[in-house]
Order: sequence, then C-alpha cells, then structure tokens
Amino acid sequence: MAVTANGSNGSAGETEDPRKIRLDRLAYVHYQHPDLSKAHRFLTDFGMEKVKETENRIYYRGFGAAPCIYVAEASPTPNRNFVGGAWVVESYRDLEDAAALPGASQIADSDVPGGGSTVTLKDPNGHNIMLVFGQILSSHSKSLHQVEMNSACVKPRVGVFQRFKPGPSPVHKLGHYGFVVRKSTFFSTREWYTRTFNLKVTDSVFDPESNVDETSFLHIDKGKEYTDHHSLFLAAGPEDKPSHIHHSSFEVHDMDTQLLGHDWLRNGGWVNCWGVGRHLLGSQIFDYWFDASGNVLEHYSDGDLVNIDTKVTREPAAPQTLFVWGPNIPLAFMSGRIEDAVIDNKLAITHPQLLEEPNTTVNKTSTTASVDVPH
Ligand SMILES: [Fe+2]
Repeated sequence: MAVTANGSNGSAGETEDPRKIRLDRLAYVHYQHPDLSKAHRFLTDFGMEKVKETENRIYYRGFGAAPCIYVAEASPTPNRNFVGGAWVVESYRDLEDAAALPGASQIADSDVPGGGSTVTLKDPNGHNIMLVFGQILSSHSKSLHQVEMNSACVKPRVGVFQRFKPGPSPVHKLGHYGFVVRKSTFFSTREWYTRTFNLKVTDSVFDPESNVDETSFLHIDKGKEYTDHHSLFLAAGPEDKPSHIHHSSFEVHDMDTQLLGHDWLRNGGWVNCWGVGRHLLGSQIFDYWFDASGNVLEHYSDGDLVNIDTKVTREPAAPQTLFVWGPNIPLAFMSGRIEDAVIDNKLAITHPQLLEEPNTTVNKTSTTASVDVPH
C-alpha cells in the first residue's frame, strides 16, 4: 500500500473514536543489559537517578513527576534486549479494553515504582507495550533554574553572570522511543498504532522517488491540548532485519545543561552516536549516545508541541530533513551500531576507560572504533 501526499495519515476522527485506548503520557522504557553495573554507570552519567534496586533490576527516575522513566534489568543471556515501552493510560477502562485485546495479559499490580495496575500488549511486530493506570507520581519532582539569555538586541540579563557546574545533564522525562520495522510492515504497523491508541501522525518523511512514506512521527492526540511533537516514531527498514528499537529519548532541562551533559559523557569515555545538533521535524536539539550495551539513547531539549489544529506535514527524505545544524549524519546513527561509531583518536587515548572496558577494543591507528557488543 502506498501512501502519497494525498494519502492517509491516520488522523480522521481519532479523538472521537471511543474504541481507542487513550494514552495519557509515556511512562518508562525497559531494557535488559549483559552487564547491569556497567549499564548503571552509563545511566548515571546520562543524568538518571536510581530510585529502587532489586536483585536483577534497577529503576530510575528523572527530575519530573514520573516515578520511573527507565528500567534496567540484568539480561538472562549475553545479549542486550529491549523489553518494551510503557505508557500511562487515562482510565481503568482503558486497561480493561487493553486486556480484552488478542494476546494481552490480565490486569495485574505493577511492581515498578509508582505502582498502579498494568496490562501488557504485543504490537504487530511482537514488541511489548505495557499500559499502566493508577500510578502515584514522584514527590521528588523539581524545577531547575531558568537561564536567561541575552541576544544581540534584547538583553534582559544585566549585572547577573552565567555560571554553570560541570556534571551529567539531569533527565526530566522519557520523551519518545521508536522502531525500525520491515518496510513491508511499515504501513500496517502505523495503522495498528493509530487505530489502537489515540496516537496520530504529526509528520512523515517520504521517499522522493516513490512518494511513499518511510518514517512517521506520532504524538498523543489530546484534541486541543498541546502534546510533544512525537512520543513514538516508526521507520521503514530492510526486509532482512527484524523490527528493532532504534533509540529511546529523554528530555533534559535546556541547551546549557544538555551541552554540559555532552561534555560529561564524552569525558567519561562514552561513545557519541550523533550530536549535538538541531532536528528539523520536531525542532529538538538532539544528542545521541551509545549506552554501555550498545543501545542508542538521546538527550533532547526545546522540542515542538502540537495539537489537533497543527497541520500534518510530509517532507522528502534528505539530510536537511533530518537536521538543520550539527555534525553530518554519521553511519552509526543510520545503522544504530556502535561498531560504526567514529571516535577521535585523542579522545580514546585521553580517556583510557574506553580502551579498558571489557568487550571493547579501539584501533588506535585509525579513527574507527571496533566494539564487540552482543546482539
Ligand atoms: Fe529521537
């Protein structure tokens, strides 16, 4: 099925359809890691705060109201694994509707911080979707200092100096995650998400030769209420590779803390995937990193908000559709493979942690890192 400029974007009547499960917000993502302590080191440097630990799991929160934004679990195998994404739904009725879907679990108590009741669904590609209702919000949420900026012509900050403290960029919340799916299942997957939930296509990127969509960004449709430009994205990938997570993204306070966090991660010897730059669709200032297991996690700030009145757009696939400023698109971002990351020699030598990590080898004579990451 080809969707063209005049084609379906899954938007008609979405808010009125009572059969849809109504999502309220993203809750958390759940990953399994071969080395949980190494995963913890990265997540701490990334700006998350441990909220609870069990024998094989560590739960993290940000500085927002969400009681948990990330679950790290020790992998039962040598491989890393994306377990699924969790969403808070608007009512208990939504959980009941979800539990009635084919392949869904029964409603159960959630053991994730914040509690509540939960149901697990499978999307058409077998990825878990955990739905939660009745969470108790974190009492630790806070606001960070709002930096006032002087521009060339408008200078509201007088006699006050900008002073910053080096450190991780505190993460506020989970912003989005997304999958690369087989090209042949792209439209059926998108249709499933927009039919099952109050998710609506915000923007799509199309192949300029065929005029067929190949990436879509989906937001939570709350009618007139503004929500993030996207909470989920789907991209069409090769037929010979199963559907897989591309990255999960976390909002940070502002650009200064984001850049401080970039320096913190770089100085800690972690591997940058792509950034810092500015996206076109969604406008986010982005910074992608490889975590300790080779998953891609993003920091973002200054993203767009949309509502039912926002025009749905389509853009041709091109580098300028992906970013406005920043480093050129690296192979590592397209492939999602840490093996494709380019590391500056000086960094690798300056930060020997990168060289000392188990399963990690860096060819010091070239700028290409060769990292053995289980898949
Ligand atoms: Fe992203």
